[in-house]
Amino acid sequence: MRYAVLSDIHGNLEALTAVLEACRAERVDRYLCLGDIVGYGAQPSACLERLAALEAVVVSGNHEQACLGMLDPGWFNEAARAAILWTREQLSFGDLDRLRRYPLTCMEEPFTLVHATLPRPERFDYLVELGQAVDTLTACRTLMCLAGHTHQACFVEFDRPARRVLRVLTAPEALREVAYEDEPVTRRYLLNPGSVGQPRDGDPRAGFAVVDTAQARLGVRRVPYDVAAAQRRIREAGLPPFLADRLAAGR
Ligand SMILES: [Fe+2]
Repeated sequence: MRYAVLSDIHGNLEALTAVLEACRAERVDRYLCLGDIVGYGAQPSACLERLAALEAVVVSGNHEQACLGMLDPGWFNEAARAAILWTREQLSFGDLDRLRRYPLTCMEEPFTLVHATLPRPERFDYLVELGQAVDTLTACRTLMCLAGHTHQACFVEFDRPARRVLRVLTAPEALREVAYEDEPVTRRYLLNPGSVGQPRDGDPRAGFAVVDTAQARLGVRRVPYDVAAAQRRIREAGLPPFLADRLAAGR
């Protein structure tokens, strides 16, 4: 099976459209989405519809939780808070119903999906230290944990019985083609595919990952998209201009 792993789309339909085109070219069989489909960008409903049409497996992100009133908007910075309040107004009852059905974690063998970290997905901690990766990998009950939230791609290989980190990959060239061992007893892997709709690693192109479970190979991809069109929609919607500016910088 070839899986597409998408995270942090953030209402950016232009980026999502480019990514889905690339996924079709790569003959992806199934779509996995790690949350934050909405927030920041100007087309939250359209992004939710596209994922529903693909029958994607979806977990909830902090932006979904905030739109549902499960997370205090005070938790967010000013621009994010403004975007959440705007997004709430845009979502239909059907959209909100959809958001309510997304769990915080889910298992789709050999994957565990979560927006941020395990074992406390509801905290939406940013995984920035190796110790957090170890906690997540220790709590993960499947071969691979898929997590987003930081908007930066990474891959961690963990020796489960020895509780030892064997590999950490963050450089784009290292993430392009990664072989892993399908050894669910001895290995655990963490994959963050980066962000579709608001990359924060200095590369404005949309990011996602493809995992080929038959070949035990995965890769992080970057595809160009119409950034100017996404920026125009954000400005026309009256969202904070900073949210448009940052797309061009990939920050
Ligand atoms: Fe996000």
